[in-house]
Amino acid sequence: MESIKGVNVTGKRVIVRVDYNVPITDGKIDDDTRIIASLRTINYLIDKKAKIILLSHLGRIKSQADKEKNSLEVVARHLSTLVSCGIYFVPFTRGELVEKTIQNMNDGEIVILENTRYEDYPKLLESSCDEALSKYWASLGDIFVLDAFGSAHRCHASTYGISKYLPSYSGFLIDNEVSMLDRAIHQRKTLILGGSKVDDKIGVIDNLINTSDYILLGGAMCFTFLKASGINVGESIVSDDKIRYAKNLIDIHKNKIILPIDVVTNNGVKMVTEMSNSDIGYDIGPKTISMYKELLINSKLILWNGPLGMFEDPRYEDGTKKVMQFVYNQSIPTILAGGDIISASHKFKYNFTYLSTGGGATLEYLEGKRFKTLERLNGK
Ligand code: 3PG
Repeated sequence: MESIKGVNVTGKRVIVRVDYNVPITDGKIDDDTRIIASLRTINYLIDKKAKIILLSHLGRIKSQADKEKNSLEVVARHLSTLVSCGIYFVPFTRGELVEKTIQNMNDGEIVILENTRYEDYPKLLESSCDEALSKYWASLGDIFVLDAFGSAHRCHASTYGISKYLPSYSGFLIDNEVSMLDRAIHQRKTLILGGSKVDDKIGVIDNLINTSDYILLGGAMCFTFLKASGINVGESIVSDDKIRYAKNLIDIHKNKIILPIDVVTNNGVKMVTEMSNSDIGYDIGPKTISMYKELLINSKLILWNGPLGMFEDPRYEDGTKKVMQFVYNQSIPTILAGGDIISASHKFKYNFTYLSTGGGATLEYLEGKRFKTLERLNGK
């Protein structure tokens, strides 16, 4: 992977694929972490007086109605408040206005095109990595920079296709995330895994178990493991088809896989061994929080994916909040991986240095999958 740093970009048209697939409610951006994280590359290119052409997807487009709900205009407006240069939003993904706007832009300015996935309806062109579309977008620039780590697992026209036709480099966000996640994969660490689905995490557990001292489990997914170890978890969410996997893992790695000893349920705090048929677990309990703190205190590195409870609800926020407060105050190097745990850190106002902005991409990377998109970033 070759970084854009040091490449002569002055006066060049640099196409930057960012991931501005951000949560938006009623036209308002709920969390702009991904936009903020893209600024390092953008500001660098502004400084170097490149002509910056931004491409991003937003949501998934399967109908005309999806298009109406997923214009990138709101993102472009927000970006204009964060950068110091001229920025022009073109409400198209191709055509005369796109080409003219790029022709007329000055060095150090930004043009941002409409949502790349508008090219998925009525025909699936972006997501199928359509050759003609890839070539067309490549024709708008001189250099391609991939800085969308969250989309790096997708071989789409705007992530992979363009890189076949232009000298292609990684941006600073990708450089940073790849080195951070490589460190998380190879160094000894404690893994904290929460969130709702076991299925999403199996590949990560399998790939990282040998380099992890402990895997501390929480969130809805821990109930599958509790059930697998013979505990009655009442009405808590369980992935029944993963019980056998969980049981096997606990049997082989009983000293590494750490499960809650108490939980916060709809009927109050309970020891896991005392849960009844009507209980639904929503968070790890206070004894588990203390136990997790003791296990974390000597960690040299923590990789944390997924909240430990339903932190959006103040009744069930303590597990995530108190463990987070602890690792933050102890200054244990911690990588927060994925949107939900990053949202929790914002909610509780803990400003961590290492954030991985990917969702599915981060999990796949941690599973050890190779990304074709990154392999193409060789400066050729
Ligand atoms: C994400 O939010 O995980 C990325 O933006 C990728 O989105 P996708 O799963 O719709 O490709």
